[in-house]
Amino acid sequence: MNESLKTNQNMGRGQISIDNVVKIYDPEGAAVMAVDHCSLEIAAGEICMIVGPSGCGKTTLLNAIAGFHSINSGSITMDGQLLCGPGKPQATPGSDRIVVFQNGALFPWKNVLDNLMFGPVMAGKMGRKEIKEKAFSMMADAGLSGTENNFPGELSSGVRRRVEIVRALMNDPSVLLLDEPYRALDSLTKSVMHEALLDIYYKNKVTIFFITHDLQEALFLGNKVAIMTSRPCKPKKVLTVDIPYPRSYSVVTDQRFRDLMEETSELVHEEAKKSFAAGEREG
Ligand SMILES: Nc1ncnc2c1ncn2[C@@H]1O[C@H](COP(=O)(O)OP(=O)(O)OP(=O)(O)O)[C@@H](O)[C@H]1O
Ligand SMILES: [Mg+2]
Repeated sequence: MNESLKTNQNMGRGQISIDNVVKIYDPEGAAVMAVDHCSLEIAAGEICMIVGPSGCGKTTLLNAIAGFHSINSGSITMDGQLLCGPGKPQATPGSDRIVVFQNGALFPWKNVLDNLMFGPVMAGKMGRKEIKEKAFSMMADAGLSGTENNFPGELSSGVRRRVEIVRALMNDPSVLLLDEPYRALDSLTKSVMHEALLDIYYKNKVTIFFITHDLQEALFLGNKVAIMTSRPCKPKKVLTVDIPYPRSYSVVTDQRFRDLMEETSELVHEEAKKSFAAGEREG
């Protein structure tokens, strides 16, 4: 095992159990069932990739974990503690579960260092000196040394995304929730981002819940991949990617990777077709 994986502080935190979750939106009485009796186990320190067609209910599930909205039934626990479920329909948002948004959420008027320090300073659990040291150490780990005085607008989109992840990790979360963070990137930039994310992951080993439409991205990054049904979503197949970390991009040409792509691409395609057909009927 990679040395940095063994020394990780987050090991043992961020185990999520999603049990029979149902979420129905009811805009003006036209009930939309987005999630249907969805169950999924995510181990602490695991990268769990959620793959599914557009509109199937992926973001809905993420929002339920984050506490951005309620669920109708079922439960979600983290490390054995109820986030939402019977008697508590909506999880309380907290810095133990941080969402990294697709369009980024860095403060444009703050430099990188101040962006990184913001969360822990607000939390007030550590002194400024300690927070600053942590920021510099995390910047070094993520290949961001030298960017501390830059403002987000002065950074390339790739570096900005790395800062966003590090900013989330500065709060010492148990789980990072990523909703298609690299959707808008070209495939070359994406591959660089993937390696950078894994580098950061090896050093922090935080649980990652990562939504994507891109099966190759899912298999490259994840050690668990949940392929979701078309709406309402629940896992159609959950597989373990038995390719050891650390992974470099050359893995995508390996036979094992190609076999996994082949094993899963038809499933993803089938659900996309169902989703498209349902859209045609509704639209
Ligand atoms: N606030 C809401 N009120 C009513 N319906 C909603 C609401 N949010 C989402 N929906 C509907 O719930 C379904 C699932 O939406 P969701 O955003 O979770 O899908 P998704 O899998 O994240 O899609 P995408 O891949 O396009 O991001 C969709 O049909 C969507 O229109
Ligand atoms: Mg979504």
